[in-house]
Amino acid sequence: PLVSMKEMLEKAKSEGYAVGQFNINNLEYTQAILQAAQEENSPVILGVSEGAARYMGGFFTIVQIVEGLMADYETTVPVAIHLDHGSSFEKCVEAMYAGFTSVMIDGSHHPLEENIAITKQVVDVAHTIGVSVEAELGRIGGQEDDLVVDDAEAAYAIPSECDQLVRETGVDCFAPALGSVHGPYKGEPNLGFDRMEEVMNLTGVPLVLHGGTGIPLKDIQKAISLGTAKINVNTENQITSTKTVREVLDANPDMIDPRKFLGPARDTIKETVIGKMREFGSSNKA
Ligand code: G3H
Ligand code: ZN
Repeated sequence: PLVSMKEMLEKAKSEGYAVGQFNINNLEYTQAILQAAQEENSPVILGVSEGAARYMGGFFTIVQIVEGLMADYETTVPVAIHLDHGSSFEKCVEAMYAGFTSVMIDGSHHPLEENIAITKQVVDVAHTIGVSVEAELGRIGGQEDDLVVDDAEAAYAIPSECDQLVRETGVDCFAPALGSVHGPYKGEPNLGFDRMEEVMNLTGVPLVLHGGTGIPLKDIQKAISLGTAKINVNTENQITSTKTVREVLDANPDMIDPRKFLGPARDTIKETVIGKMREFGSSNKA
């Protein structure tokens, strides 16, 4: 069923695993991720950036596609449709109105008080209708669609500020920026685990790790042990599926039927997502 993230993340936190947020870009991504979740008997979060929503048609189109696929696939695992890095109160409300079951309001570029105010505004609306909310503090480096944060701007979240934001807004889960990066890492990731532990102890809410592409398994496991209950992955599916498209087209220069190269790309995404679900420990937790 289509649900918010609230129960799935609380269960994950208390049982010591993380639910994957896998970003969708088109029909094939959505199919692959839903197929992987059902096959692994895993809860799943479909992440939708504002750029991806524009590409696919809009928030209504996405909700209809997901609901249609879930009916056709007879999906029984919990699925959330989540606005990724929502840029404003208005965008979050638009997504909720279309049927998204979860939203992230990313006020991390604002000063603390402003971030708290805008996040609180979103929570007040969302909780009235059973939609879950994620917020962010600090700044996650790298690039995802419209969101570009260069190295100098990237900033670690401050635990006391995280505590204040979570307490004053009532968010369901929280993403402290602690050295993770959108897109590939330059060298090994250097995550701030000491601060992660502090944030876990201060806030008590399930934590979210953005930039899940390229984080070694030992760091994933450590993050989960320190309260991380949601891990976002986007770039890795793009890398693996585009490689498949290239290989198929290179080997078959006369191929023109999109199903013949998008089908294999879809299978690659499914395999990648299944691998992540096993790493995150969410398989058989639906
Ligand atoms: O919000 C989405 C994620 O944080 C994706 O990060 O593209 O590095 O996997 P990634
Ligand atoms: Zn992110």
